[in-house]
Amino acid sequence: MANPIIAPFPAGRLRRLRRSPNIRAMVSEVNLTPANLIWPIFVTEVQGAEGEIASMPGVDRLTIDGVKRAAERAARLNIPAICIFPHSDSDLRTDGCERAWDPDNIGNQAIRAVKETVPDLVVMTDIALDPYNANGHDGLVVNGEILNDETVEALVRMALVQAESGADILGPSDMMDGRIAALRGALEQAGHKNTAILSYAAKFASAYYGPFRDAVGASGRLVGDKKTYQINPANKGEAIRCVARDLSEGADMVMVKPGMPYLDICRAVKDEFGAPTFAYQVSGEYAMIEGAIRNGWLSQDVMVESLLAFRRAGCDGVLSYFAPTVAEMLA
Ligand code: PBG
Repeated sequence: MANPIIAPFPAGRLRRLRRSPNIRAMVSEVNLTPANLIWPIFVTEVQGAEGEIASMPGVDRLTIDGVKRAAERAARLNIPAICIFPHSDSDLRTDGCERAWDPDNIGNQAIRAVKETVPDLVVMTDIALDPYNANGHDGLVVNGEILNDETVEALVRMALVQAESGADILGPSDMMDGRIAALRGALEQAGHKNTAILSYAAKFASAYYGPFRDAVGASGRLVGDKKTYQINPANKGEAIRCVARDLSEGADMVMVKPGMPYLDICRAVKDEFGAPTFAYQVSGEYAMIEGAIRNGWLSQDVMVESLLAFRRAGCDGVLSYFAPTVAEMLA
């Protein structure tokens, strides 16, 4: 952007355009509407696990009935999409992760429940093995190694069942190599040509995912860390290459994750590719902001401000646990 010319004071008084809410609205450079929000929700099949997640105050694990109510709430608030994350029964988590492609797993039940309740609400899903893996990893683990190609085969099976269950957008969050091409090819072949892929393309190995791992019951299980597949937080160039790779393999949209600590990546991705670009304001970001609000240290206004930052950084939309509250505030 060229440097705009500003007349010297007093001809130039920047405060003239800040005088009233209407004048400020006229010159607002970006805006935030519910259409910019994707609402991530958790669904559980475990008796007694429903209700508030300790490290994410204000966010519940839902039953299938709760998912239906959330879908209705999203529709009422003009939130276009929700993203479903499953919390599965301990006994159903195995080293082979077979439950991930069971049409009756809790994630697929939730997809169908939403589609029955509010057919035109966009349903996004997560493609990764961690909710069904005995060891909490996103991929198959053999002798301590997270296998790439075998995992991709498993992800394809998982994706086809989700598409069959009615998912509109698949969100591969696993960071295996070659998964986008494999998923796209399999979807086309199976006749799911209109199922979109929002790739978690620039996903960093982050400590901000902690509360999410509590939410899906992966925290206690995770052996080691995810640094052999998620990106080193120091690496912007590698993140750009990951996005280029995923777009060239057929991703329809791309995501940067986490969000606020990675706004430079969001801006670079939008400028470089111009593709539909999303960010994930992840569980740890939610926990920090919500914790401060609950303690009276920050005002509620910080929610909208934090989401506007993503719009300024070039994002078309944001996955945020604040989605319903913010949509209510914007209404
Ligand atoms: C796992 C997955 C994670 C998140 C979304 N999908 C966690 C991880 O990679 O360990 C994190 C979301 C959040 O923190 O809100 N496939």
